[in-house]
Amino acid sequence: MNKLEINPVRGIRTFPSFPVVMAVVGREENNIITISLVHVFSFSPPLVGVGISPCRYSHELFHRSPDFTLNIPSKGLVEETLFCGEKSGKDMDKFEETGLTPVPGKRVSTSTIAECPVSFECRKVHTFDTGDHTWFIGEIVTASIGEGYDRENALIYWAGEFRTIGELIRGR
Ligand SMILES: Cc1cc2nc3c(=O)[nH]c(=O)nc-3n(C[C@H](O)[C@H](O)[C@H](O)COP(=O)(O)O)c2cc1C
Repeated sequence: MNKLEINPVRGIRTFPSFPVVMAVVGREENNIITISLVHVFSFSPPLVGVGISPCRYSHELFHRSPDFTLNIPSKGLVEETLFCGEKSGKDMDKFEETGLTPVPGKRVSTSTIAECPVSFECRKVHTFDTGDHTWFIGEIVTASIGEGYDRENALIYWAGEFRTIGELIRGR
């Protein structure tokens, strides 16, 4: 296959997609931030990480807080997901503005989001800087999944496009 050499930053945009989550962080602030830099870092213990730019209001909250929650939105929450990825918690209470419902965490002091079908409560275990983002790694201390959760309705996001997962090509 003949390939054209392209700018590496443009190259990164060619990844098909990443999951998107709404994180809640800051025990008092209870701020929601939309994040697509999210990945699994270990299965045992179960570790997930989020990449947060130091210019976000939430960055300081992630640094200060011993825990955070990650909430997977379904496609019906696309407007709320976008809102929490465009507006800053330094100016407003995003729970109030979106009408999303905070639910006290079962095992951590940060809220989860009632309307999201999946919530992970995470205890922060590692923090490290990579280029223009800081990765906050949390151990999932409990996970809650809504009855009838369907991964096919979960939002994914990259390069300016919200999608859902597509065709199943093959099982493994
Ligand atoms: C779909 C989507 C994905 C995003 N992913 C990230 C991300 O992975 N890391 C990050 O730092 N900001 C990300 N952002 C930007 C922040 O969500 C946005 O700047 C937000 O307003 C910050 O909120 P805060 O000021 O309350 O911290 C994303 C925004 C959108 C819309």
